[in-house]
Amino acid sequence: MSTLPHRLGFDKVSLHQDISKVLVDEITIRKRIRELGDIINREYAHKDLLLVSVLKGSIIFMADLIRSITVPHEIDFMATSSYGSGVSSSGVVRILKDLNTSIEGRNVILVEDIIDSGHTLSYLLRILQERRPASLRIMTLLDKPERREVNIHVDWVGFSIPNEFVVGYGLDYGEVYRNLPFIGVLKPSIYGAPE
Ligand code: PRP
Repeated sequence: MSTLPHRLGFDKVSLHQDISKVLVDEITIRKRIRELGDIINREYAHKDLLLVSVLKGSIIFMADLIRSITVPHEIDFMATSSYGSGVSSSGVVRILKDLNTSIEGRNVILVEDIIDSGHTLSYLLRILQERRPASLRIMTLLDKPERREVNIHVDWVGFSIPNEFVVGYGLDYGEVYRNLPFIGVLKPSIYGAPE
């Protein structure tokens, strides 16, 4: 039996009906990822490189990003969760899955789908810096600067976006909508807010 809330349920013909507007379309995402890949190709030519994807939201960005990279690199994954669920982050982060590889002396890029309050990244940066990488930089597809609660330096941002509830291209609401090929704004009625 499905545990999905009714408004996210399987009775829908298409997830697209829950989207009020497309914020970043597929072509624009593809073009920007090519540019981000070119940056990595330039900056990490002849350097050891490990890309770390923060699950689950960044999987689609990561999958497309590494295919726009031509320099040799490895990949690894971490999973975090903020305590509590829903639309806003609680500020307390825990590690659900750690890296398989040591990052000591390595050049690492943390790959995120979105930076919101900044708590997840701030925590990850702290614990990863303790492992003494040669360098540790951050690439995020989306940034919501209006929502920031902690000050962090982000090296590369795909798109800076307004404070709207976005899903698609890896981003979820209630674990659904990750497969949408664009970044879309979710209709407020879906998460129980007035339109
Ligand atoms: C999202 C996103 C970031 C984090 C950003 O992950 O992927 O990791 O929230 O929020 P913050 O800047 O407020 O900390 P989420 O916990 O929703 O998990 P998911 O990637 O598995 O969807």
